[in-house]
Amino acid sequence: MYLEKDDERVLAGEFGETRQKMMEILVALGGVYGAERLVPIASAQVSGASYKTIGRWGLSWLQSLNARVVVPTVLNPIGMPQDRWQEFGIEEEFAARQTEVVEAYRRLGIKIECTCTPYYLRITEYGEHLAWSESSAVAYANSVLGARTNREGGPSALAAAIIGKTPYYGLHIVENRRPQVVVEVESGANHWGAIGYVAGKKVGNRIPIFTDIRPNRDQLKALGAAMAATGAVALFHVDKITPETRVFNFPTDDLDRVTVSGDEVRALFEEKEVEAVAVGCPHCSADELRELADLLKGKTTTKPLYIFAARGVAAANPDLVAAIEKSGARVITDTCMVVSPRMDEFGSIMVDSGKALAYVPGMCGALARIGTRKECVEVATS
Ligand code: F3S
Repeated sequence: MYLEKDDERVLAGEFGETRQKMMEILVALGGVYGAERLVPIASAQVSGASYKTIGRWGLSWLQSLNARVVVPTVLNPIGMPQDRWQEFGIEEEFAARQTEVVEAYRRLGIKIECTCTPYYLRITEYGEHLAWSESSAVAYANSVLGARTNREGGPSALAAAIIGKTPYYGLHIVENRRPQVVVEVESGANHWGAIGYVAGKKVGNRIPIFTDIRPNRDQLKALGAAMAATGAVALFHVDKITPETRVFNFPTDDLDRVTVSGDEVRALFEEKEVEAVAVGCPHCSADELRELADLLKGKTTTKPLYIFAARGVAAANPDLVAAIEKSGARVITDTCMVVSPRMDEFGSIMVDSGKALAYVPGMCGALARIGTRKECVEVATS
């Protein structure tokens, strides 16, 4: 892979051991995927932030690093809210280790905004190159914003953040962003997370293009997150809706076709008893908080109802947070239903998200039930 002179000096160790190691990661990655060069990035989003997922070896590795990021960089959700962790039921030992993880990232210059929806906090432009690692954020950045990022691992996103560049391959190259399979959605299929759950299994790692659907941005978020979980979708197109379908005229006549049927979607909606309800996977937008505040008006929770959102989004909407919490529900920032050990304590969890439906059983050891946001509120307040 071609390196500029300064990059070669970084690789030779002239700017310290950490920067050298980070460049080695990027060069190795570029070698594996046949990248010809590095490309500058506008921002990074680093996963591997919850102590639940990285453990003490991950923490020791982070503490051994000595460098600063050179582009705006945020974290994926950590294992607990930074301020209300005791109220959320997090044990002291875990909180102490999680705080060490956060401090290790802070020392590297990373902004401690821990969210899978960094696009609500910083404007990301069409065509920008990024190094983001959380799969739903990657799908949203590529598909809804028209930015360009591969699905990075935590270490490669961190390496890109410290070097300010990432290998130029995969979805950074326009030619690799063409649709590979057409997805048709039958009219009886009407939950975007569930549609994504079914579609992801059918398209696998191909780039889908949907026809004849008109989701809004929050619905695109739910669709992409679920496809990234049950498939390996890092980019999808929706004809006449997502930006690249308006810039490029993608021919679709020769592509494979799959259908998501109403029966397949309805089959996911099994009724079962649940111990807790968790909404906000990916983290809620302001509009979704508003919808939840309306749904909860005049109601009182009878089961734990956790609503996950980015700290910045919650802080910008204090009235909505207060209205939601009046019911007994809690708006939880910095963490989520999958990466927090708190949720491992429930045997069954109801969610409104196709991604959470896919991840909760494996990551929390709990049965998962999916419902609409309205059904989630009904179950939590019945
Ligand atoms: Fe975000 Fe956690 Fe879901 S990181 S996409 S809320 S699993």
